[in-house]
Amino acid sequence: MRRVPFAESLRIIGRGSLNWLRERPIVVSFEVTDSCTCYCRHCDHGGPKDDSGNLKPADYRRYMEALHPCVVQVSGGEPLMRDDVVDIVRNIKDDKGLPYTILVSNWSLMTEQRYLELHEAGVTQFSVSLDFPDERHDAFRVHPGLYDHLRRIVPKCAAHGFDDIVLNSCITSENVGEIDAMAEKAREWGVNICYSAYSARRTGCKDYFLNSAKQLGSMNRGLDRVEERRNGSGWIVNSTTTLDATRRYFENGGTPGCKAGLRFLVVTAKGELQPCSMQFKRYSLAERSRMIEEFTRNNTCDQCYVSIRSYLDKTFPTLLWENVSGFFSFKTH
Ligand SMILES: C[S@@+](CC[C@H](N)C(=O)[O-])C[C@H]1O[C@@H](n2cnc3c(N)ncnc32)[C@H](O)[C@@H]1O
Ligand code: SF4
Ligand code: SF4
Repeated sequence: MRRVPFAESLRIIGRGSLNWLRERPIVVSFEVTDSCTCYCRHCDHGGPKDDSGNLKPADYRRYMEALHPCVVQVSGGEPLMRDDVVDIVRNIKDDKGLPYTILVSNWSLMTEQRYLELHEAGVTQFSVSLDFPDERHDAFRVHPGLYDHLRRIVPKCAAHGFDDIVLNSCITSENVGEIDAMAEKAREWGVNICYSAYSARRTGCKDYFLNSAKQLGSMNRGLDRVEERRNGSGWIVNSTTTLDATRRYFENGGTPGCKAGLRFLVVTAKGELQPCSMQFKRYSLAERSRMIEEFTRNNTCDQCYVSIRSYLDKTFPTLLWENVSGFFSFKTH
């Protein structure tokens, strides 16, 4: 994974520390549209939605000034459905290259030209969802031809050498036997890999959670093999501690201690604040403190272990060490 240059890393540390002390979010996820090109079986999004009241690209400046996060996710729905997504990214980035900006997308609408434009506009990391290392991906995402598109476009974009593409594989009961094969696919395509964990909270469907000893055994064997593949280059983006916490999440059926609303939050397509993508109590931008008091201080939900949580439930020194040295591949020389 591309290493963040020293000066930029220092700016991220500075802004992150300040936000931590001032109780401002470290990570903000902008869901720039509710519409999607897929109908994934594990997700509550899917298909077209009413996009008429969506924030405009220039509106994102106001949110950046108020929230000042050091990491931004541009997500959805499917963010590439917005023709103005490059403009959105330009409005999110400041002239010093902050925040660290991750485009979270299924890549069904990605082209080489769009990839280059988004890179130029300031996307630091491209997170590409992949649930299976073959055409089973199409069935799970209800999008015929998607895998074939990915197997062409991902290596083509990776060949530019920016080392900024990460396959994002959400572990479910359906694909738990493919954990190592997904890592192999990342190697084949010349990109990095990051694992996340299924939450039943989005759809209420418990079938995709790892419910049996056989499935848990399969996860542990897969993640053991992934650990053996580490070579110091950071191509397996999750830290070992995060993958260990993912194992415990599935084994225990949840992970307490969530800081949604405080350390991270979601801005919906229409501009309201939500604690996370799976908690639907909404607040205006001016009501962020009320969200912390009402939601975060009383939150007992333990129903996901999405990657944001895995980084931000930690203490401040651990966060600095792991997120900066590990997640951002902090370069000390
Ligand atoms: C909600 S999608 C939005 C961005 C884009 N449409 C995509 O699929 O990458 C972001 C990520 O959430 C994951 N996801 C969807 N449903 C999930 C669930 N129930 N539990 C955990 N992750 C989930 C997807 O696999 C995807 O990697
Ligand atoms: S996971 Fe992403 S691609 Fe799939 S339905 Fe949800 S938002 Fe759409
Ligand atoms: S554990 Fe936290 S981030 Fe996950 S669904 Fe619950 S409130 Fe949201």
